[in-house]
Amino acid sequence: MKKQLLMALVCAMLLAGCGSSDSSSDNGSTAATDSVTESVTDSAAESEAPPQEWDSKFVQITDYPSLKDAYAPFFPIGCALSDKVTSSYEYAELAKQQFNSMTAENSMKPENGMDASRGRNLPDKYVDHIPTKFNAAFKRPLEFAKENGIPVRGHTLLWHNQTPEGIFYVNYDKDTGELCDRELMLKRLENYIKDVMEWTNENYPGLIYAWDVVNEAIDDAGGIRKSLWYQTIGEDYIEKAFEYARKYAPEGTKLFYNDYNTYQQRKRSDIIKALKPVVEAGNIDGVGMQSHVGTYVTPSSFADTIKMFHDELGLEVQITELDVECGNGDDWEDKQAEYMGKLMKAVLDLKAEGVPITSFTIWGLTDDMSWKKDNKPLLFNSDLSRKKIFDAMIQAAEDAKNS
Ligand code: XIL
Repeated sequence: MKKQLLMALVCAMLLAGCGSSDSSSDNGSTAATDSVTESVTDSAAESEAPPQEWDSKFVQITDYPSLKDAYAPFFPIGCALSDKVTSSYEYAELAKQQFNSMTAENSMKPENGMDASRGRNLPDKYVDHIPTKFNAAFKRPLEFAKENGIPVRGHTLLWHNQTPEGIFYVNYDKDTGELCDRELMLKRLENYIKDVMEWTNENYPGLIYAWDVVNEAIDDAGGIRKSLWYQTIGEDYIEKAFEYARKYAPEGTKLFYNDYNTYQQRKRSDIIKALKPVVEAGNIDGVGMQSHVGTYVTPSSFADTIKMFHDELGLEVQITELDVECGNGDDWEDKQAEYMGKLMKAVLDLKAEGVPITSFTIWGLTDDMSWKKDNKPLLFNSDLSRKKIFDAMIQAAEDAKNS
């Protein structure tokens, strides 16, 4: 170990001498090596890295109003950030200027926290304890948030997507077709939630203000989704996930259920039904409305849904993944902006009535990096120029302040 440390130090000194600042590693090097390398490259970056220059392919953003300032009296404004944003000077500058909450778009999902690559025939200690990999990919958004003082929404602990399928099988082996029984799967779930909570709290204390504990558990056709979580544990897996999350979450961390199409009547009543026992147990703080919307979602049905979650469950509400489809026609940008203005007014009116809407997140930075890029659903163009929908969002906050 001593030898390794010495080697790392020598390498790091050599790197510093050469003026290189690119020594990050994705392959899970030891903590000791990481810290030596990081501290040396930090000082190298300070003394020798060239000043960051604005690439002329991006427009200047210095005169932009900021969403986080405009909405300061109401709620934090968040953005889903990918590595493309956190590792680029220009994107990062825009994100820092505009947002005071962030969600990792993919890096903190189960597929990144659970170490599926470890495969089958793991040592006994892993039978009921899914191996984890809190590696550079998982850490990158958290590092960015920490460096820039941006609070994080943790997304997500339990989901049927972006989760290694092997975890549901005995010996982590899907080919056997032998699903874990309830008892084993509950242990795996509890241990995973415990590990994530403990690791994030140890390494980034106080940074994560809310967790999406369970994501998308309601089936579009009604009732609870018959996912592998359901098949192995049974219908109370939602309650159990929240019970464990409450048990291990640091004091004050808000626990959320998150879903899409929440404004559809059947979806929202199924969500309310599923969450009642979780509320009774005192293990949930809020509902996350993803809000991948288009002009077909009326602002009034959107607002009714927020109100209903609050009235019927006594929970707070966060808008967690908003994007707005562009629609057809030459005037799509105007229509998108007009819609956004009305949606924000409906949300801000509720806020003025005292409904606890506690954060509002846009699902990405520029249209070209959206998961729905053909719909041009975000606030900025690829060159960072602001779209009309951005101006409409700012205007809605100004109007609410003046009303
Ligand atoms: C999406 C990401 O934006 C994509 O990059 C990824 O390929 C798939 O997942 N509901 C969620 C989000 O809860 O995690 C999803 O994010 C979008 C739908």
